[in-house]
Amino acid sequence: MRIAGTLGIVGGNGQLGSAIARGLLTAGAIAPEALWVSARSGRAEALADWPGITVTTDNQALADACDTILMSVPPAGFGQVGINAPDRLVVSVMAGVTRERLASETGAARIVRAMSSPAAAERMAYSPWIGTGAVTEEDRETVRTLFSAVGTTDELTDEGHIDHFTALTGPVPGFVALYADCMIRFAVAEGIAPEVAERAIRQLFLSSGRMLGREGPSPANEVKAMVDYAGTTAAGLVAMEKAGIAGVIAEGLRAAVAKAREIGG
Ligand SMILES: NC(=O)c1ccc[n+]([C@@H]2O[C@H](COP(=O)([O-])OP(=O)(O)OC[C@H]3O[C@@H](n4cnc5c(N)ncnc54)[C@H](OP(=O)(O)O)[C@@H]3O)[C@@H](O)[C@H]2O)c1
Repeated sequence: MRIAGTLGIVGGNGQLGSAIARGLLTAGAIAPEALWVSARSGRAEALADWPGITVTTDNQALADACDTILMSVPPAGFGQVGINAPDRLVVSVMAGVTRERLASETGAARIVRAMSSPAAAERMAYSPWIGTGAVTEEDRETVRTLFSAVGTTDELTDEGHIDHFTALTGPVPGFVALYADCMIRFAVAEGIAPEVAERAIRQLFLSSGRMLGREGPSPANEVKAMVDYAGTTAAGLVAMEKAGIAGVIAEGLRAAVAKAREIGG
């Protein structure tokens, strides 16, 4: 499906903005001619494969030309964007920036606050979102089309949960990379060559990701099936639970959520 009208990405040369743009263009959800990108440098090297895109340093020109504006600059730089867009749909993927602040800085009433991740380039992001009361059914369709084209999406009912997803699913592969690294460090400490350990664990995460990502037993049921089988994995899982792995992960995630709440300014 195509996004209706024109889309402008403020910060579209950045890691997340360019990933979303690439995902959308690859999916055919937007034509290059309907896509605007702004960056301080006025360059969009990451999107050089699509010469039809309009690239500018002028954020207001982008806002005037586009029906939907996607804000993707660092939260600390949001105050310098300086757009007035009272009659536009403004969507933000910036961590920690509330709908209230988005409205006061842009003059828009139709605001959607979302979270996404650079996995959007591979069309594998998870992008939850929540709109203001002024968001129309047509706007919802635009947002669903945008985020479905780059992965999967849910409309939320509690804005605070965007901070949770900033911690949980924004930093791909963040927490999953730590778990993989712990496994690699264990294997190396046991005398396995580092390159062999890394190759083995990368393959494990690739195959596990495919198995957990598709429809099928929930992660909890996968664990239960392993524990019921009572083999080597069960011994490991039971020992990890007993050592408090769930509490350690929750503590880390709580710290990440607290940081997400802080950085919006
Ligand atoms: N990267 C992630 O993994 C991730 C995940 C979830 C959410 N986010 C959110 O996504 C947003 C962008 O993060 P990022 O990692 O993509 O940042 P980034 O790589 O540093 O890119 C930021 C982009 O914003 C542009 N920019 C900065 N100030 C601007 C201004 N006043 N006007 C126009 N463009 C401006 C930069 O222009 P130049 O190219 O000229 O420097 C650059 O293109 C952040 O709010 C972050 O919280 C990021």
